[in-house]
Amino acid sequence: MAGRAAGWRPRSDSRGYLGLFGAFLQLVLMHFLRGRVSGQASVQTEGHFEAWPLQESGFLEAMSLQKFSVLHHRSTSIPRMGARPIQFEPSVLDFHEQPVGMPKLESVHLHNPSADETVTLLSISATTSHFHASFFQNRVIPPGGNTSFDVVFLARVVGNVENTLFINTSRHGAFTYQVFGVGVPNPYRLRPFLGARVPVNSSFSPLINMHNPHSKPLQVVEIYSTGGDLHLELPTGQAEGPRKLWEIPPFETKAVMRASFISREPHNHTAFIRIKTNDSDDYLILPMEVEVTTAPGIYSSTEMLDFGTLRSQDPAKTLNLYLLNSGAKDVPITNIKLSPANTAISIDFKPLTLKAFEKKYTKVASVIYDPSKARRISQHSGKILVKAKEKSYPKLEIAYQVDLLEGYLGYDQAATLFQTYDGQIEPQTRPVSLTNTFNITIVLHDVTLPEEVQHLFQVKNFSRPLWIAPQETCYAFSLSFAPVGPLTNLEANVLLSTNASRFHLPFHVYTGFVDYLVLPPSLEGTSFDFGVLAVSDVAKAFLLIFNSNPIKLDLKSWEVIGERLSVELLSVAMGNLSHAKTTTELDGNRLDPQPASIQLLPGHHAVFCVTLHAAQQQGDYEAAVRLTTDCEILTIPVKAVVAVGTLVSQPQHILLSPSFPGKLVVHPVSLASSFSRGVRVEAVRPPTNSSYFFFRRLRHAKEELEPGKTSKIGNIYFNASAVCDGECYIGGEFVCQ
Ligand SMILES: *[C@@H]1O[C@H](CO)[C@@H](O)[C@H](O)[C@H]1NC(C)=O
Ligand SMILES: *[C@@H]1O[C@H](CO)[C@@H](O)[C@H](O)[C@H]1NC(C)=O
Ligand SMILES: *[C@@H]1O[C@H](CO)[C@@H](O)[C@H](O)[C@H]1NC(C)=O
Ligand SMILES: *[C@@H]1O[C@H](CO)[C@@H](O)[C@H](O)[C@H]1NC(C)=O
Ligand SMILES: *[C@@H]1O[C@H](CO)[C@@H](O)[C@H](O)[C@H]1NC(C)=O
Ligand SMILES: *[C@@H]1O[C@H](CO)[C@@H](O)[C@H](O)[C@H]1NC(C)=O
Ligand SMILES: *[C@@H]1O[C@H](CO)[C@@H](O)[C@H](O)[C@H]1NC(C)=O
Repeated sequence: MAGRAAGWRPRSDSRGYLGLFGAFLQLVLMHFLRGRVSGQASVQTEGHFEAWPLQESGFLEAMSLQKFSVLHHRSTSIPRMGARPIQFEPSVLDFHEQPVGMPKLESVHLHNPSADETVTLLSISATTSHFHASFFQNRVIPPGGNTSFDVVFLARVVGNVENTLFINTSRHGAFTYQVFGVGVPNPYRLRPFLGARVPVNSSFSPLINMHNPHSKPLQVVEIYSTGGDLHLELPTGQAEGPRKLWEIPPFETKAVMRASFISREPHNHTAFIRIKTNDSDDYLILPMEVEVTTAPGIYSSTEMLDFGTLRSQDPAKTLNLYLLNSGAKDVPITNIKLSPANTAISIDFKPLTLKAFEKKYTKVASVIYDPSKARRISQHSGKILVKAKEKSYPKLEIAYQVDLLEGYLGYDQAATLFQTYDGQIEPQTRPVSLTNTFNITIVLHDVTLPEEVQHLFQVKNFSRPLWIAPQETCYAFSLSFAPVGPLTNLEANVLLSTNASRFHLPFHVYTGFVDYLVLPPSLEGTSFDFGVLAVSDVAKAFLLIFNSNPIKLDLKSWEVIGERLSVELLSVAMGNLSHAKTTTELDGNRLDPQPASIQLLPGHHAVFCVTLHAAQQQGDYEAAVRLTTDCEILTIPVKAVVAVGTLVSQPQHILLSPSFPGKLVVHPVSLASSFSRGVRVEAVRPPTNSSYFFFRRLRHAKEELEPGKTSKIGNIYFNASAVCDGECYIGGEFVCQ
């Protein structure tokens, strides 16, 4: 494509502003429908606009025009305000509400009521960048004749804007015309890029993140830029990509383009990005204003840290701050602060020095937004101040913002719990209702289950999309559970895709059974095996009971079946079995008085102590511990062998050789067993918890002591240094030369 504005449609009256943007300068076209990058139009220099055919008068022409006219306005008074030789229709122009970045065009008609005077129109101008005026259809209005011009309202910020257009005539001076509009948030969550400052030859490259506000996929059809210094590239960095790259799933946000601005000329540049989607014939226009300067200073890679849309229960989001020093000397960055202070934000920053003449941005800090800490609306936006140790530099401020949705999706937990019993399992279907506590309507457009549970669960009766008004509860779908084979406890999430991002709805399948573990002496873990006991020995073991179910369980009773055995509750605490094993105070005292029953909350464990007083007569001992919960009766066997005999240490008294701190002394230990069967040595411990005596078992010692024999089992050590605990000597260290 070549030639100014060639190839672009002239303005079409029926479709409003379609044609207005036809005259973009140097358009870089990334046309993925055709799968390639095509065409560039030639550059028009400023000042030539008057030569353009008026019918094709375009947006950028209006922009240049505006600059031209504003310049000439400042010192001029506006004569003959009241006596209007021309009439405007409508008399004032109100655009009402328009989303930011979505232009709206209106035509204004001018009528010359005079019977003899001809009015020649010279210029038209606006003093804000929210409004753009086209040139007149006819510059000369004969007596009784009329003409028109177009005004485009392109809101750049949310809020009210009003402005006065100045219309200069050849012989009647300037006329004023009032225009009004209100900018509202962009439904695609797009924003203009305003207020960026970059050094010459450095780039400003924001990502364009686009949100799909619909429950159908959104296809971006084309993205154009005004070219010149502004280039578009795919977020992947490639020049072209599949059409799928520009398809945004319902209610999701996706980076569709990177706009890269780089210039060699110091100037306040304005460029535009135009986006078209398949959900409307209307264009989205994003202005990009970049101040390119030669002034030495600290620059930020982005004009705004945009945290996007977060929900109050979302995890904290981190954005990085990249800075560059364009000056001729190294500059330390001493501090990064918030203005005003904001407790929802934390900054991870360590002072550093930015090197002179850097071409690349350096990561200087991480800015972390924690939505759960935001209490007030004033915490949703603000500024980040960068303190540099260089007085001659202008101060650097970077804006930040977050769109925070407060609320949650509530549900009845009982509907998401499915109990199964070993063997007997029946299909179940549960209705799931959702409560919307956000102040926006939640649109539920998809409900999915993780693949690994799809053979067990199904979502039924969901009609998409489902609209849930603020503070409303409504039936959303049914969860149907058809178990195959015996199941243990299972936890998974139903994924709810909504316009407020995704929600996880946890559901559980549970048996109602407790998990348990027997701690030493048993090696097995699931039963008590006390091994060989001497007559009148007292043996102890611990029983940990854990509730891994999502419901609380009643531990209705704990008792023993058998003689000389007792079971006592020691404690109840939070934590799973492996946690309990390492942290529980197993020597703890029994609860006194013993409660008749307890409630075991989900994720909690109980610790019991089981004590066996060995019998007078020899032989095998068998008994059991029985626990009753509301779901099961758990019987854990207890075994022991009672034997007559003793173990005697050889020698009976161990006398260690003299020692001093630093010298470790050792003595072997042997045991004479008078039992008539093998006996296992569990442990050898000093009577007190001293650290200076310790025992090491022989590496090749047999598992059991042979009956009627003396066997060496290990060594006992004495470490004198442990007695004085590091304070054994005074004085310095010796160094051997
Ligand atoms: C209107 O145009 C004339 C001629 O170009 C110029 O001299 C005058 O200053 C302009 N007035 C205003 C208010 O722009
Ligand atoms: C403007 O003039 C055209 C013809 O010259 C006429 O058709 C039209 O109705 C006029 N409009 C107004 C608002 O006077
Ligand atoms: C910018 O780059 C151009 C060409 O690469 C070079 O001629 C010019 O000196 C550079 N300007 C600055 C300020 O670095
Ligand atoms: C650009 O705009 C800023 C602020 O509006 C102004 O300070 C600066 O002088 C302008 N630069 C140029 C080159 O016009
Ligand atoms: C837009 O394109 C997507 C993807 O091709 C399609 O699913 C969707 O239905 C289209 N939307 C409209 C309004 O045509
Ligand atoms: C929802 O709440 C936010 C923040 O509290 C507020 O800015 C917004 O106006 C509210 N929206 C509606 C529709 O009430
Ligand atoms: C399906 O939904 C309707 C209402 O939309 C409800 O009345 C019905 O009970 C639901 N069926 C099941 C199986 O949950």
